[in-house]
Amino acid sequence: MTGFRFDLLRAQDLPLLRGWLLRPHVAQWWGPAESVEELHADLVADQGTPGATLAYIASLGGAPIGFIQSYTAMGSGGGWWEDVTDPGVRGIDQFLAHADQLNQGMGRAMVRAFVQQLLADPAVTLVQTDPRPDNARAIRCYTYAGFHPVREVVTPDGPALLMHCTR
Ligand SMILES: CC(C)(COP(=O)(O)OP(=O)(O)OC[C@H]1O[C@@H](n2cnc3c(N)ncnc32)[C@H](O)[C@@H]1OP(=O)(O)O)[C@@H](O)C(=O)NCCC(=O)NCCS
Repeated sequence: MTGFRFDLLRAQDLPLLRGWLLRPHVAQWWGPAESVEELHADLVADQGTPGATLAYIASLGGAPIGFIQSYTAMGSGGGWWEDVTDPGVRGIDQFLAHADQLNQGMGRAMVRAFVQQLLADPAVTLVQTDPRPDNARAIRCYTYAGFHPVREVVTPDGPALLMHCTR
């Protein structure tokens, strides 16, 4: 599965994103959907600021299939990743938008393509992700995509399995 595109989230994408966040297969693992205004403040307004989370609509063959974001772990604030001292660590979070496309290898292909793009930057040392420990599908997907489990951690959102992917 090749041909993924990752387009930086724009204000006009936010109603689509909010609709995706309300879908049960996403809400089950992602938490309550934010309003369009909150999504704008979190994911669009700060795009020009160094170290800001960068959020993307992922497309395959021209069709939007999911959401993926990357962040710089060090200095995240809010109690997140306080022990990370390497400025090269990026973190990612993602979901597939369409429930009928789960469990077909699309997630691992999307994550692999995005991670390759991140690691193409020599300033990036490793990529982390942090599924809930009971999200067996996500953990299996990320393992296929090249991540390995590091340890269980407690994040401001609750327990998570920290996973790393290196070059
Ligand atoms: C997580 C997600 C991105 C993974 O993408 P995906 O395309 O569904 O995953 P893949 O098909 O690449 O891999 C999933 C694997 O887990 C397996 N799996 C599915 N449910 C499982 C379960 N309950 N227990 C164990 N394995 C499971 C699948 O069979 C597949 O493995 P296989 O190919 O060996 O059969 C996608 O499922 C998703 O968006 N889920 C909803 C939101 C979410 O959980 N986001 C992640 C938050 S960290």
